[in-house]
Amino acid sequence: MAHKLPPLPYAYEALEPHISTETLRYHHSKHHLGYVEKLNKLIENTEFDKVPLEEIIMRAPPGPIFNNAAQVWNHSFYWQCLRPEGDADPRNPLEKALSDSFESVEQFRDEFDHAATTLFGSGWVWLVKEADGSLAIASTGDADNPMVRGARPLLTCDVWEHAYYIDYRNDKAAYLEAFWSLVNWDFIAQNLAHGRLPESSPA
Ligand code: FE2
Repeated sequence: MAHKLPPLPYAYEALEPHISTETLRYHHSKHHLGYVEKLNKLIENTEFDKVPLEEIIMRAPPGPIFNNAAQVWNHSFYWQCLRPEGDADPRNPLEKALSDSFESVEQFRDEFDHAATTLFGSGWVWLVKEADGSLAIASTGDADNPMVRGARPLLTCDVWEHAYYIDYRNDKAAYLEAFWSLVNWDFIAQNLAHGRLPESSPA
């Protein structure tokens, strides 16, 4: 089963001026597509050949198949976390859930920003729902995804340099400010209400 590059849910220029057309075009049509193509080559004639993407992530041992499968999933999820003219703030019940877990939405953003700016090297920062129902911030290195340890992703920010270097050079904080201008809180709220973990999740 060949995996496909999902289309972006908006045009390449739609996130201007926060994320440039050049960044988005490269990120989607070069980086994300590259992970899809590498994954398809790597799984040919292996036990993962006809396995759905999330199941590959849950089952593959550390290595190239896991890395490329997780990068395909992570990017598809990241695109959905953004939208042109994102909402300024989350609404209830998401706002309440964030306030219950982090004291306030502002505190949640501060902690998320701290996790992103202090992440060493390439990776992702996540808002997750833990198996016990609480919300938490998670940082993962390289391609890793918190679903492998039973936490459900609600929101992610790509903090690989390719996500922001053209627009913000090494100013990760400026990229995060742009990120918050684009967050699709409705998508995050849907994930909180209806999201599920893959069938093979340990949770
Ligand atoms: Fe990326």
